[in-house]
Amino acid sequence: MSDGLDTAEKRGQWSGRWGFILASSGCAIGLGNIWKFPYITGENGGGLFVLIYLACITLIGLPIMLAEVLLGRATQKSPVGAYRDFSAKGSPWVIPGWIGVLTGFVILSYYSVVAGWALHYTWLSLQGGFAGMDAETIGNTFGSVFANGNLNLGWHTAFMMLTIAIVLGGVRHGVERIARILMPLLFVMLLVLLGLAMQSDGFAEAFSFIFSPDASKLTRAGVLEALGHSFFTLSLGMGAMITYGSYLKKKEDIVSASVVISILDTIIALVACMVLFPIIFSYGMEPGAGPGLVFISLPIAFSQMAGGAIWATVFFALLVFAALTSAISMLEVVVSTVIDETRLRRTAATLLCGTAIFLFGIPSALSGTEGFAGKEFKDLTAGIFGEGKGKNWFDTFDYLASNWLLPLGGLMIALFVAWRAGAAAREKGFNEGTRFQNLYVAWLMLLRFLVPIGVVAVLLHALEVI
Ligand code: TRP
Repeated sequence: MSDGLDTAEKRGQWSGRWGFILASSGCAIGLGNIWKFPYITGENGGGLFVLIYLACITLIGLPIMLAEVLLGRATQKSPVGAYRDFSAKGSPWVIPGWIGVLTGFVILSYYSVVAGWALHYTWLSLQGGFAGMDAETIGNTFGSVFANGNLNLGWHTAFMMLTIAIVLGGVRHGVERIARILMPLLFVMLLVLLGLAMQSDGFAEAFSFIFSPDASKLTRAGVLEALGHSFFTLSLGMGAMITYGSYLKKKEDIVSASVVISILDTIIALVACMVLFPIIFSYGMEPGAGPGLVFISLPIAFSQMAGGAIWATVFFALLVFAALTSAISMLEVVVSTVIDETRLRRTAATLLCGTAIFLFGIPSALSGTEGFAGKEFKDLTAGIFGEGKGKNWFDTFDYLASNWLLPLGGLMIALFVAWRAGAAAREKGFNEGTRFQNLYVAWLMLLRFLVPIGVVAVLLHALEVI
């Protein structure tokens, strides 16, 4: 039977362990790894920041990922149903499930706009790239892309249509199949780019920037940024891993699968740094350039490189692939919840949710303009964020979702699974299919104590209490 006929009773399923691992890696590996991680590493001075990020992934991210996958696999439901099944009837614990779905909805609406820039830059690279442009022109290009409402709207539409088309195909024939094609391609392209970077003059300098800890450059804010990013990069806190876990058969080993996914995600983030920084250093650019690192500094380097247009095309296509498999996961959470909770089938649910997210993203696509979503929204929100600190539509929702909704969602999942879920069901959920049953107690201790404390620290930081 085709996946297009998914109903609550007849859910999709991965073909097996590797289907799950590839799809989940596709979900985790995204703009967060290739666009965001290098620039925040650059801003925070490298070395020590990377070390703290690795600690956060291992001690906080990984335990939460296991909790999410466990909840999904044990209940075979999306976030809302998963929370419901593991608590008493009528329990308020379904609320964090719904908040997760809402978070996915919001994040995808603006993630698609950034993915649209990657599409646009792939297009520019294909047309000969940035050859012959000087640094200033390239810098202005990025500024004028964001300010061009129609351009952003066009790419946002294209990217959302692509995402919808894949999710329409269902779990195995849509989500898994595209991950099976794009993920290996992404690994190969990144390795090819790594080969290029290793031959450049800046490689040694970049290597020591990424790996030698330098305490003087790290701020307290940087520590918390590392923690927050470990959530985003592993796709935690909104039920994406609950949903992906729910398509797993009971006999699969979720402990080793979660470890593999976290390691792959981390390796890709580190390799992205090892590709970007040598190129950046070789051409005398600054590592701390911020969000423009990938869209300004890198094209400037490509513009001076032999064969730069080809390398640029490879890089930006890679960015599109990474973004696409992540965007799919966000839409899948929303769609899967609608399938589980209503009588709608996959086709109707996907078209409905996809269109709604697309519409909600339109103001994000127009956020660089002088109109309502841009300048006017900035003036409007100055009343909330303080004079001169107003944010456009895009920044407002990015701020709400990444700084508040994800950590809150992660905290809820940790508290729920560690303290609220029945001990027997939890232990069974962990142990089923795995050889690593001896890790159960260590995992539970992390989830009970270290994880909530770490997450609360992020929230207090956001409130400027600590
Ligand atoms: N992890 C992805 C990235 O690094 C983004 C992402 C996909 C995500 N699904 C998510 C983030 C769910 C939070 C929650 O780009």
